[in-house]
Amino acid sequence: MKHKYILSKMKKGSALIHDPQLYRHIPVTHWYHAATLTKMLKTNPVLYIKPDKGSQGTGIIRIKRINNFESLISFKSSSQKYPNTRIAFEVAKRMQRGKRYIIQQGIPLATYRKKPFDLRIVLQKPSNRWLLTWMSAKVAPRSNSIVTNVAKGARDAKIEQVLRGADQGLNVPSVMKELSGVSYKIARKLGSRFPLRIVGLDMGIDKKGKVWFIEANTNPSFHGLNKFDPVQYRRYLRAKKQIEAHS
Ligand SMILES: Nc1ncnc2c1ncn2[C@@H]1O[C@H](COP(=O)(O)OP(=O)(O)O)[C@@H](O)[C@H]1O
Ligand SMILES: [Mg+2]
Repeated sequence: MKHKYILSKMKKGSALIHDPQLYRHIPVTHWYHAATLTKMLKTNPVLYIKPDKGSQGTGIIRIKRINNFESLISFKSSSQKYPNTRIAFEVAKRMQRGKRYIIQQGIPLATYRKKPFDLRIVLQKPSNRWLLTWMSAKVAPRSNSIVTNVAKGARDAKIEQVLRGADQGLNVPSVMKELSGVSYKIARKLGSRFPLRIVGLDMGIDKKGKVWFIEANTNPSFHGLNKFDPVQYRRYLRAKKQIEAHS
């Protein structure tokens, strides 16, 4: 079976949301419409709006409800307050024409030295079984960053160091166990729906220590990761070579 790239975030997320063991870990997600934003803003303190086929944290808009009357829109590196009645109009101004967007429940990401982080978890399928071959953290450059992409200034960091040093005092063994369990389930589920040999999962840990799925990359980048962690990198390369030999 040959690996295929799946670009749509909605397509990949929808494959997971109906799974009885996974749905608790998948943020509520809809296609973006102004009316959906207005409705979701009433029950969610934070919303993320993302291009369905985006990457590298580009084009992402975050809405933070301040109260019933106003909200904060963050886009690129600026944040501005607007009346809630104007939010959809202001969001539209920041969207790229011709692109479809999804709107998603915001996850209150745990922080490391005040900076939000998420995790890069890579699973590969060299034979008939999925193998978890890579785990690391991505720490945002600033405390008010809205994305944790390395392309937007985040830095790669050792997962144990970041989880142990998280400002929220996480139960690291229990987080690690849930993280690998959920990641394997996601890889198997996605692998049963699409012809996949590798997935790079962006997984979030919220401030209470709960594990969340953020997105699945079907063409994860390993740029610079050889130097960062040669041991895990070799594990990734071994699986990659087996996959290439079989396809
Ligand atoms: N629902 C969310 N809650 C909190 N943070 C999010 C959410 N969605 C995205 N992010 C942040 O934005 C980053 C980029 O989002 P992602 O869905 O991975 O899109 P991209 O394809 O651009 O990487 C994530 O790594 C995370 O830091
Ligand atoms: Mg991502």
